[in-house]
Amino acid sequence: MSPHRFKTMGEQAGRRSWAEPWKIKMVEPIHMTSRAEREKAIAEAGYNTFLLRSEDVYIDLLTDSGTSAMSDRQWAGMMLGDEAYAGSVNFYHLEQAIQQYYGYPYMVPTHQGRGAEHLISQALIKKGQYVPGNMYFTTTRLHQELAGGIFVDVIIEEAHDPEALHPFKGNIDLNKLEDLIKKQGAENIAYVSLAGTVNMAGGQPVSMANVKELRQLCDKYSILLLLDATRMVENAYFIQTSEEGYADKTVAEILLEFCSYTDGAWMSGKKDHLVNIGGWLAVRDEGLFDELRNLVVVYEGLHTYGGMAGRDMEAMAIGIRESVQDDHIRARVGQVLYLGQLLIDWDIPIVRPVGGHAIFLDARRFYPHIQQDEFPSQMLAAQLYLDSGIRSMERGIVSAGRDPKTGQHRYPKLELTRLTIPRRVYTEAHMDVVAESVLEVYQNRTKTKGLKMVYEPTRLRFFQARFEPL
Ligand code: F0G
Repeated sequence: MSPHRFKTMGEQAGRRSWAEPWKIKMVEPIHMTSRAEREKAIAEAGYNTFLLRSEDVYIDLLTDSGTSAMSDRQWAGMMLGDEAYAGSVNFYHLEQAIQQYYGYPYMVPTHQGRGAEHLISQALIKKGQYVPGNMYFTTTRLHQELAGGIFVDVIIEEAHDPEALHPFKGNIDLNKLEDLIKKQGAENIAYVSLAGTVNMAGGQPVSMANVKELRQLCDKYSILLLLDATRMVENAYFIQTSEEGYADKTVAEILLEFCSYTDGAWMSGKKDHLVNIGGWLAVRDEGLFDELRNLVVVYEGLHTYGGMAGRDMEAMAIGIRESVQDDHIRARVGQVLYLGQLLIDWDIPIVRPVGGHAIFLDARRFYPHIQQDEFPSQMLAAQLYLDSGIRSMERGIVSAGRDPKTGQHRYPKLELTRLTIPRRVYTEAHMDVVAESVLEVYQNRTKTKGLKMVYEPTRLRFFQARFEPL
């Protein structure tokens, strides 16, 4: 029995648990490895968990992207794939689900989130324009930069502090944003790039109050407000549980209200939508939609499939309906909070409050003796793998990349290792095993040294960079 569980009758009294709103119909065996096998595997992978083979991984917390378990309904939907080149029935199902739950009238499918990021960046950014946002995301910022934009972080200061307990650390600092608009001129702002549950900040949500004020500010200067809706269902759940006035609203109602303050959204369906591939881009303006339809046929596919198979659009349409059910999202975020609480109880440094999709270990406090340019988060991910075969991801200096102007490393304030929880895949017992491994690595922290980078790709370097221990 793991150390956190209730131990006495007294502690049990009055306790009423809830459980996931599903049962398991099919299982996928996973492979356990020896320490010697893991030492070989991580060395071959250049100490980069992205370069491990998944068969060498025990519990895979690399990402929640495309790693969800689909329901029996979604699998049944796969059989209804209409693989017509044009006008597939599944496209119309998907369009209808997006209109109903996100409220945008016009949509093009894309192969995944970054396909949509590419299209929106190409459509809206003119060279030299600014794109303010609530902390960067790797692919989002790169597409903005490739389109000639300059990303500016306008998230509230608390977001950069892993210990600040603000309940909506994903909020935009409206003063920072207005200062930027006044300094550069509204015509030099391409759009405001707002993300729900901000990934790089630790899965931190944006409040409804913040998006309402943001809408007013954008209206004042006639600037478009676009949403990265990738994990907006999780964001809606945090609004329901932490923002005044929303406790009695459903997650679906909150999601629709939040989106109503924005002019459009891009989506990596691989997260909230409970599917393994796919994305979309949706807007309210017909003229902009026209431009996006022209672009999608060049880069993704015809505007009624945009890089997705008919069956995948069907699974996504069904996944959207499942994802907004209150019982589902409570269990999904509940599992993340469960793991987070274990680590908090054991005094392990993590980003707080715990976010919606992952636990972020604070590598600065984990390894205070390792300099940031000796890649402490990268090393922490490697150590977790060595200890137990758990795969996590660096979200620190390697992910931040180099400044395109100076060519120097960007030094982000947050130096994190992410334990990302796939949806409907692992059990509470897996979470116990994960927590115990983190504790073991934490107890051995003073013996651990940093890394040096021996191969550096030019773009999104974290995916393929290679390291050696110092
Ligand atoms: N926006 C956010 C907030 C994301 O987290 C991601 C992907 C994307 C956009 C891009 O979507 O992968 O479908 O092209 N995040 C993954 C992750 C890769 O592991 O966090 P994509």
